[in-house]
Amino acid sequence: MATAELATYREKWREAPRGSDTDGRIFSSELLAMPDDVFLSTWQAMAARRYDGELGWLGTLYFDTFRDRKVAELGSGLGFDGIRFIEHGAAWTFCDIVPDNLAVIRRVATLKGIADRARFHAIGDDLSFAALPLDYDAIWVFGSIHHVPFEVARREALDLLGHLKPGGRWMELVYPRERWLREGAPPFEQWGKVTDGERTPWAEWHDIEKVRRRLLPAPLRTVLDFEFCSHNYRWFDLVYAADKQFRVDDYDVRLLSRRVNLLVAPPRLAAGARRTLLGRGIVCPAGLFAHAATIDLDAALRALSNAPADLPGAALDIECRVSKGAVGIGLIDASGAYMPGAEISVEEGSDSRLVTLRAVGVGVPATLVFRNLRAAGRSTFAVLKAELRPAN
Ligand SMILES: C[S@@+](CC[C@H](N)C(=O)[O-])C[C@H]1O[C@@H](n2cnc3c(N)ncnc32)[C@H](O)[C@@H]1O
Repeated sequence: MATAELATYREKWREAPRGSDTDGRIFSSELLAMPDDVFLSTWQAMAARRYDGELGWLGTLYFDTFRDRKVAELGSGLGFDGIRFIEHGAAWTFCDIVPDNLAVIRRVATLKGIADRARFHAIGDDLSFAALPLDYDAIWVFGSIHHVPFEVARREALDLLGHLKPGGRWMELVYPRERWLREGAPPFEQWGKVTDGERTPWAEWHDIEKVRRRLLPAPLRTVLDFEFCSHNYRWFDLVYAADKQFRVDDYDVRLLSRRVNLLVAPPRLAAGARRTLLGRGIVCPAGLFAHAATIDLDAALRALSNAPADLPGAALDIECRVSKGAVGIGLIDASGAYMPGAEISVEEGSDSRLVTLRAVGVGVPATLVFRNLRAAGRSTFAVLKAELRPAN
């Protein structure tokens, strides 16, 4: 990323959120200009709003998890979470792109007499974390890197992940797609102004698969994944499921980037389904759960079977646009039964959806099925991309 681009984000984020979402934001330089007693009581009042508000339950959930543990936070703002966890026995490293934000936290920690358990890392234009130790128990990402485009966030995330212990946790708060839809589905350059104020250059919705793609090839196991607060937020708690430190260089990038295109031939239409007039879309047969189209995965799975041995399996990325109704995208086994947890529903919408199915195993015969999820009427959809790849 060019320096000038990161400068845009630095300029925005020297104004960080006060405690609660409804309280707006404050410039860290404004806080730093206050005398010690006013500074600390102002910070304390904002922190109290945070702990009593819609995000306060996170403390209750994780105090015990983090006691005597070492956590690195990516995008620490004014430090409300980290300071609270330090007060409950954690050692915390605050990382941010805005030095003044870190200066606020350093001063709070000093005034509270807990600076010995706090460490600070100003993220430079190289987006590197090389100065930090390699033995963190958890990485805490609270509404931060979803404010930069995916490729930038990926570089940062993969670098910091290399500092997590095997079996450590990646915990992250993001904005879900549901919220983006509710707020008018704007381009990500515009959405930030809605979510975080007029000066915000970027906000991007995330689901679990986007977070996993960002951390690919790191093997991850999901502990928690849920939306809360009227779909305003989504919380992920993932385990880095490996027995060695993560180093991207340990993975064969050539194999990792292997993609088997499933659309070399059009999906096979089921009885009663038909192509749309333009030939690019498919109209489902009437009736709930009526199959519309299938793609047999055997050949593609065989082609991928020399995927890296230390990756647990394969995943299917399917990009689909539903112009009417709703369509289920799922996997059935050789006997025609749906594999557990292997169907995703895509609703009618103006944008296309990229969904990932990961219940697919190399060497396990499976068929990809598109079916009608409307009890009344026929759903209509187009498949823009369908690829098999190694999964993390
Ligand atoms: C919405 S605030 C959240 C702050 C804090 N986590 C909280 O919950 O109060 C976003 C924070 O992420 C930081 N940030 C923005 N882009 C970042 C990036 N690419 N890498 C690291 N931190 C970033 C900002 O400086 C800011 O402190």
